[in-house]
Amino acid sequence: METVKFTAMKDGDREDYEFLTRHEIDYASKTAERLLGALVELDESMSGYQITRLGHSLQSATRAWRDGADTDWVVSALLHDIGDIYAPYNHDEYAAAILKPFVREQCAWVVEKHGDFQKLYYAHHLGGNPNSRDAYRDHLYFDDCATFCERWDQSSFDPDYPHEDIAFFRPLVEEVFARKAYDPAVIRSGERVPLTDPTIAGERNA
Ligand SMILES: [Fe+2]
Ligand SMILES: [Fe+2]
Repeated sequence: METVKFTAMKDGDREDYEFLTRHEIDYASKTAERLLGALVELDESMSGYQITRLGHSLQSATRAWRDGADTDWVVSALLHDIGDIYAPYNHDEYAAAILKPFVREQCAWVVEKHGDFQKLYYAHHLGGNPNSRDAYRDHLYFDDCATFCERWDQSSFDPDYPHEDIAFFRPLVEEVFARKAYDPAVIRSGERVPLTDPTIAGERNA
C-alpha cells in the first residue's frame, strides 16, 4: 500500500486511516527540523531593523539561556517570532499555536500575548495604545509576559550582541518537539516557572 484507496474521506476504511496515521507520526517526528529551517527563512524577513528576524530570535533565545531559563522558555524565546513570515498581523498567535502542544501553558500564553505587551515600548510613537497589555492585568502569567518582553524581546535588536547560533539551540528544539503532544506533565497548567535562575545563569555564564 503506497497511498490510500479513497478519493473522498468518507469512503476511507480502517486500513486507510491506520496507514495515514503511520505517515503522520513519521511526518510529525520531523517538526523540529522543519521549524529550524523556517527559522533560517526568517533571515529574509523584516527589513529596516539593524538585525534580521533570525538574528533577533537567536539573540532572544541567547538572553533567555544566559538568564538561566529552562528549556521551555529558551525554545519559546527562539520561536516567538516565527509567525512573522506567514502571519504578519497575528504572528504571536501563530507562534503560540506551534508551541502549545509541546511547552508549558505559561510559555505558550506568553508567546501568544507578547505582541500586545510589546506595544508598551513603541505604540505611543504611532498614536496607538502602549497599555494594551492592561487587558490581561489580572492574568496569572501577566508578570511573566512583561518580563519576557522586557528582558528578552524588546532588548534583542542589538547588532553587537554576541549570540549563540542555531546549532547551539538545535538539541533543545529537538527535545521539545519530540515530546508527546499535550502531555499534562509538560503543559503543567497553572504552574509558573521563573524566567530567570541566578544559579544556573551563573554556571552558564562562567
Ligand atoms: Fe513578536
Ligand atoms: Fe520579538
